[in-house]
Amino acid sequence: MKIISASWIITCDENSTIIKDGAIVYDKKIIDVGTIEFIKEKYPDVDIFQLEENSIVMPGLINSHVHLEFSSNTTTLKYGNFISWLNSVIGSRDELIEKATTKLISQKLSRMKKTGTTSIGAISSYSFDLEACKKSPINTVFFTEVIGSKADMADTLFADFKARLNSAVLEKDESFIPAVAIHSPYSVHPFLIRESLKLASETNLSVSSHFLESPEEFEWLHKDQGSFLDFFKNFLGQSQSVTRPMEFLNQFKNIENLSFTHCVEASNNDLHKIKELGATINHCVTSNRFLNNTKLDLDRLDEYSIPFSIGTDGLSSNNSLSMFDELRNLLMTHTNRNIIDFSKVLLKAATKNGSDALGLNKGELVANKDADLICISLPDRVKDENDLCMNIILHTKFVDKTIIGGKNV
Ligand code: BEZ
Ligand code: FE2
Repeated sequence: MKIISASWIITCDENSTIIKDGAIVYDKKIIDVGTIEFIKEKYPDVDIFQLEENSIVMPGLINSHVHLEFSSNTTTLKYGNFISWLNSVIGSRDELIEKATTKLISQKLSRMKKTGTTSIGAISSYSFDLEACKKSPINTVFFTEVIGSKADMADTLFADFKARLNSAVLEKDESFIPAVAIHSPYSVHPFLIRESLKLASETNLSVSSHFLESPEEFEWLHKDQGSFLDFFKNFLGQSQSVTRPMEFLNQFKNIENLSFTHCVEASNNDLHKIKELGATINHCVTSNRFLNNTKLDLDRLDEYSIPFSIGTDGLSSNNSLSMFDELRNLLMTHTNRNIIDFSKVLLKAATKNGSDALGLNKGELVANKDADLICISLPDRVKDENDLCMNIILHTKFVDKTIIGGKNV
């Protein structure tokens, strides 16, 4: 059993409880949280590791959506428009993936840890990121992704998907959790969706899918029109979408832990369905900005009581995998939100909601949750407790200490 005390404990629990001069008792899981006085009296025989002034202990950050296999991109891909980006990904995919070695991905994961991330939802298209994820102390929900809209390729692609999923299942341990990703409604044939979701629900795996990321996707899925039409004609010889948005969503009925990424073009009916499915929306604000997509309307999510979590997406559509960079971008992008109040919402989205999206038992400093903690320090005393969350987001570049499953890592 260990105890750490800090100037502030941010619990990210249901009531967003913040404890001034607090302490946390843990081994692999969290045992107790309270004021230093209370904890000292209750655990008189345990040494307390005291952090310095202006210190904070909070749950480790959860990046609920990242593509590590595209980690080598910096200046290659085209931004500013979804179709141009997609074409550039297809054109440069082989070259980028070849450069994203286990060594490079491990370096990126190490930097993610230093910038506060303790769990990720890694979308894996080829399983080339498996070894790096396995080696990293960061908890990985490893989403083996299925893709392919052509009916005559479906059997082959399903066999490949199953083989990759099986390899991930063989590697399963406490910090490496296999899961299933459906690439998107436009790129996956309904047969593949049905069969891969059947596998996921039979084995109780978490599921995630991109959904309605761009206006072009909306035009295509609803009307078989727009610039996706040219793309599909040229690339795949198709002139009709393989599914409609509602047909697509209806396939996810038996999935316990479900998330949809982006959803910036989702209709009210779609949002209603997403709520009914109990899903979380992975919000990737920087990625949406880079590709000139719409900004997610968080007020509409509130109307439907849909929780959102935070993802950086990959370095294919971001210049950083740091969750603190992403949180700052969120503050700067959602200009209609009050910066102080929104900061509190964001810390919960980056912890508890991420845990829910991925089906983990983390993200809150509450007894019986996994002891995944980060320790950070602010440059000066926080005058008003109400500004604490905002100051954490504004000033944190790196963490001082990371604890995953009760261990210093
Ligand atoms: C496909 O494999 O069908 C596909 C892949 C990427 C974008 C669109 C479709
Ligand atoms: Fe993505």
